[in-house]
Amino acid sequence: MATIVEAVNLRKIYMLGKVPVEALRGVNLKVEEGEFLAVLGPSGSGKSTLLNLIGALDKPTEGKILIEGVDVSMLNDNQLADLRRKVGFVFQFFNLIPRFTAKENVELPMAIAGLGSEERRKRAEELLELVGLKHRMNHKPTELSGGEQQRVAIARALANNPSFLLMDEPTGNVDSKNAFEIMRLVKQLNEEKSVTVIMVTHDQRLAAEAKRIVQMLDGVIVDEKVNRK
Ligand SMILES: Nc1ncnc2c1ncn2[C@@H]1O[C@H](COP(=O)(O)OP(=O)(O)OP(=O)(O)O)[C@@H](O)[C@H]1O
Ligand SMILES: [Mg+2]
Repeated sequence: MATIVEAVNLRKIYMLGKVPVEALRGVNLKVEEGEFLAVLGPSGSGKSTLLNLIGALDKPTEGKILIEGVDVSMLNDNQLADLRRKVGFVFQFFNLIPRFTAKENVELPMAIAGLGSEERRKRAEELLELVGLKHRMNHKPTELSGGEQQRVAIARALANNPSFLLMDEPTGNVDSKNAFEIMRLVKQLNEEKSVTVIMVTHDQRLAAEAKRIVQMLDGVIVDEKVNRK
């Protein structure tokens, strides 16, 4: 199995005025192709910080991130932009564009990547079908439920065939029924479409759906277990 993501002795210190905040204090992590990993930990333990570093949205203070064997710190701006395109981000607050329909939201990353309009339209429809929302493709975000909006965000994250999905509390803003639906979708993408998933959550029940769980506390990984079920 190929290693998709490797974090080596990652440290991240934020400066809050003159006060240093140690968000990550030496994290080592390897994620293999096809994994479904949950990063579980209480608020403030460094989960989002770790995810943002893996997605190259921010830089570590020390240590390094390798994506498909390439040290992210060695990349120039163009190469970083290419790398970010390989990452499918799903955030807690969906981050859909309000005046775009579901389909247009899914098409957007493909437009940025330079795909032709016919191809974009076709793929957006396929992806919305995959997440069970073909019948809602002309709805704008305000005309969708929270769970539906998050499924649109997942379709959008898959638009450019990312090497892996990074999800930060993907069910943080939906009710428990929709949370379960989203988890079922994520599991299905992982099992049937071999999408590699790294999901951050503070919810033990959601983490239990993943194949492997790493537990974070105060900026370090304190425990790791493989789910056998
Ligand atoms: N931009 C920032 N500037 C200063 N401190 C920050 C910044 N971002 C995060 N922190 C601090 O770093 C620590 C880790 O934050 P992080 O957002 O990674 O936690 P988290 O595990 O994602 O928490 P939550 O479950 O609440 O989202 C926290 O103590 C937080 O206050
Ligand atoms: Mg967070």
